[in-house]
Amino acid sequence: MDNIAIFASGGGSNALKILKHFENSDLARIKLIVTNRRNAGVLRHAEENSISWKYYPKENWNSSPMEIVQELKTQKIDYVVLAGFLLKVPDVIIDAFAEKILNIHPALLPDFGGKGMYGMHVHQAVLDSGKPETGITIHLINSKYDDGRIIFQGKVNVESVDTPESIQKKVQILEHKWFPQVIEKYIKEKAAS
Ligand code: GRF
Repeated sequence: MDNIAIFASGGGSNALKILKHFENSDLARIKLIVTNRRNAGVLRHAEENSISWKYYPKENWNSSPMEIVQELKTQKIDYVVLAGFLLKVPDVIIDAFAEKILNIHPALLPDFGGKGMYGMHVHQAVLDSGKPETGITIHLINSKYDDGRIIFQGKVNVESVDTPESIQKKVQILEHKWFPQVIEKYIKEKAAS
């Protein structure tokens, strides 16, 4: 049984879908939720689902990231899933979990990624570009923003009537549908390799 830690900064709708997906799994379980925001909505999901959680403010991520690595090791974490986690993951964590950290980005990378490209900024940029489609990208992370190996993309059309808000809704449907399944498939493939 592999242990997953979810890092999240916001409401945690993806975290909740992932929690539920793995609830009765014998492949993996959600062992820990980690946040950088003390009042992040994701903590309510942690409490309601009896998942332990840790809060590390931004300063910890910058000045003592090894403390976070230690906690992940103590909790025997095998995989880290970033589900709306807004800080850059420190290199020591990336190195300690090589090929084991998955992120979801709400657009089709390599377009519309990089620093500052999160939330509504992404959907506004997609709309401004006039591109006919957008979607989700699930990828491994490395030390650059939104740059690691892509393992899955799902697409949806952008219509002339779309707004950033309507795009966000369509993209969120894709996220909730695909993220849990893609995590499961990735863990299975890793186990078999
Ligand atoms: C998602 O759109 C995800 O792609 C992005 O942050 C958002 C998180 O939403 N990285 P939620 O907190 O899971 O509802």
